[in-house]
Amino acid sequence: MTATKRQPSPLNSLLLVNIGQLLTVSSVAGNHGPRRGSDLTQIGIIEDGAILCLGGKIVSVGRTKNALRDPWLKKNRKKITEIDCAGEVVLPGFVDSHTHPVFVSPRLVDFEKRIEGASYEEIATAGGGIRSSLEGVRKARKGSLAGKVMAVLLEMAAHGTTTAEAKSGYGLTTESELKSLEAIREAASRWPGTVVATLLGAHVVPKEFQGCSQKYVEIVCKEMIPEAAKRKLAQFADVFCDKGAFTPEETEQIFAAAEEHGLRVRAHMGQLSETHLSPFLRFNPASFDHMDHVSDDDIAQLAKRDTVATLVPGANYFLGLKEYPNARKLIDAGVPVALATDYNPGTSPTMSMPMAMSLACTHMKMSPAEAVAAATINGAWALRVADRKGSIEPGKDADLAVFAVKDYREIPYWFGANHCSMTILNGVVASRD
Ligand code: NIG
Ligand code: FE
Repeated sequence: MTATKRQPSPLNSLLLVNIGQLLTVSSVAGNHGPRRGSDLTQIGIIEDGAILCLGGKIVSVGRTKNALRDPWLKKNRKKITEIDCAGEVVLPGFVDSHTHPVFVSPRLVDFEKRIEGASYEEIATAGGGIRSSLEGVRKARKGSLAGKVMAVLLEMAAHGTTTAEAKSGYGLTTESELKSLEAIREAASRWPGTVVATLLGAHVVPKEFQGCSQKYVEIVCKEMIPEAAKRKLAQFADVFCDKGAFTPEETEQIFAAAEEHGLRVRAHMGQLSETHLSPFLRFNPASFDHMDHVSDDDIAQLAKRDTVATLVPGANYFLGLKEYPNARKLIDAGVPVALATDYNPGTSPTMSMPMAMSLACTHMKMSPAEAVAAATINGAWALRVADRKGSIEPGKDADLAVFAVKDYREIPYWFGANHCSMTILNGVVASRD
């Protein structure tokens, strides 16, 4: 792939030509919500494609030969930065809708204990797990946390991600949660991609509140949520609703506080055990994430709604679990499904969306086309940014991933290797060479 740079481009414009397979993932007629059922396989492939972007937006999408015949383009071609994709694959930049990037150290002791046979819950009860990441974040300076987040965002972009959700959740005091959100904001302001911030003050009950979780829930509801909302540090509030974390009643309480302060809600749901979902539906959650355990009745409810089931198979892989979420059952029932990395130090230390897609194909029996749609347009739906992100269509943000492969199915096929050769984030080119 070669980029003919005539910098600075006076029109702030980019033309990608000779795209072997251009996966537009563009709208399916008659579908206005997240993709579900067989619509998930409609990824809109154009052979020998071209894309014109101006001012950070996509303005036209089609065949290379038609693009080059366009009178406006003929007249302005010299002023445009042209990228010859030489037959490579281009798809919408991935939307990684579930990540926990604000932590200080990897949890290597937990990793070894699990190899020796301890479970995630046993390690947490013995003082490892989420609680063992708190001290590092509480002590860290905001600037050093921002540096950590920035390093992850750059790695994500190198793997084709152009939009990422970023949660707090490893401080669990008002001060350290707000500091984590400020670190996310600081890193986001330096990254050309797009970040959607989520307050996860309700990650676990920190040990100083053990036995009096209600007092901690009040801090989440009366301090963290109002302050994060007032300072516009987060768009979403998340809760880890499961055994060992927060109860369904506490989750409802936290959702109600979020709603009152104008934050939208999402939740870690069904990771370790099943929780009945209907009490939460009145809050119109943007997503329920993990969903390893979910009842048939709840699946039928979700099939009628736009709440996205975000599956994070990296966590199952890294915890060495035999079971994965039942993606086939969810998709075939009509539940909108997204894929995300769940990047975090305990259960899923990967920022690679292609890896998440590979696991989705091999362990959850999703087709490569379903994995593409789940990692792009449905991720955008999970973050409620699908009006701007997740597909290659005129008017949307110029967020593109280029892969040095001939066929899009190679993206999940070559697991553990990174074939992303270029990422374009809001019109800004980040090349790997
Ligand atoms: O999504 N389940 C809760 N949160 C993370 C794990 C966090 C951790 O272990 O540090 C998850 O798997
Ligand atoms: Fe998570």
